[in-house]
Amino acid sequence: MGKTSKTGKSTKGSEKGSKKRARKRAKQERPDLHSLYEAAVQNVEADVDFILKRWRKARGGQPQTLREDFCGTASLAAEWVRTLPDGEAWGVDLDRGTLDWGLRHRIAPLGNRAERVHLEEADVLVPKAPRVDVQVAFNFSYQTFRRRADLVSYFRAVYESLDDGGMFFLDSFGGTDALCDVEEKTKISKSVEPDGRRVPAFLYIWEQKHFNALDHSMDCRIHFRLKDGRRIRNAFRYTWRMWSLPEMNDLLTEAGFETVDFYVEGWDDETDEPDGIFKKRKRVDNEGSWIAYVVASKPC
Ligand SMILES: C[S@@+](CC[C@H](N)C(=O)[O-])C[C@H]1O[C@@H](n2cnc3c(N)ncnc32)[C@H](O)[C@@H]1O
Repeated sequence: MGKTSKTGKSTKGSEKGSKKRARKRAKQERPDLHSLYEAAVQNVEADVDFILKRWRKARGGQPQTLREDFCGTASLAAEWVRTLPDGEAWGVDLDRGTLDWGLRHRIAPLGNRAERVHLEEADVLVPKAPRVDVQVAFNFSYQTFRRRADLVSYFRAVYESLDDGGMFFLDSFGGTDALCDVEEKTKISKSVEPDGRRVPAFLYIWEQKHFNALDHSMDCRIHFRLKDGRRIRNAFRYTWRMWSLPEMNDLLTEAGFETVDFYVEGWDDETDEPDGIFKKRKRVDNEGSWIAYVVASKPC
């Protein structure tokens, strides 16, 4: 039995009440995991800018149609139709709940432009119609395919879904830290989402929990720590095969792609941070960590 407080209620009772209120408040203000994920790991404006520059250089003009594989909330598909007045985008993901969140928070705010985005609950392994100019698979999602045969099947499905001369964009990370068990913390500044909601500043924690040298599988986790001290452990979890760049080159070529190019991000020695500039390279020093875009082109 708790001590009696001035209000006459037992402190235990009031503690219970305040805990209940705190729980209710925490529930009401429950952070949106998709919002935190996007603020922490995505930069769809930079991705679309990179795609348009590569297309202009290789093909001239602008591509119009894009398919975002593993689209999740379809943020990139939304950015595509926001950037290109006649652009049209398709998004493919297995998870109905995530697609619905994307429809509400990323596609609906587009207004009339939402008519040019089509989301499909499907497996990326199945080739899709209509054929498109550009297909993307970002944030390393293709690494979900851990068997060689599955990754080649996926690359073949992409090849089939692209128009002649189409381009496929992926990304990759590596370096001496990439195959180690590490936890990396990054402060994420407050931001405003496309639907106008505010995301307060928070801490993003990327954990490579275990790397298995035998099959190159990696158990990766995303955790968040909020400003009020709340921790969200294992908000997202992936078991990935760490495919190397030469393996990707071989498998994309096997699937039929004519050229495979690697654009690796540079390093700013002054800030000791990545500089955000991706240059096509034939040779790269295996620094602690690096990120690269991989661009595979179908013959015209
Ligand atoms: C890491 S998230 C990627 C989200 C977003 N595209 C990005 O760039 O950050 C991976 C997504 O892939 C989806 N996914 C996994 N396997 C899939 C498959 N075989 N076909 C379609 N979607 C798949 C999951 O449902 C999840 O939404």
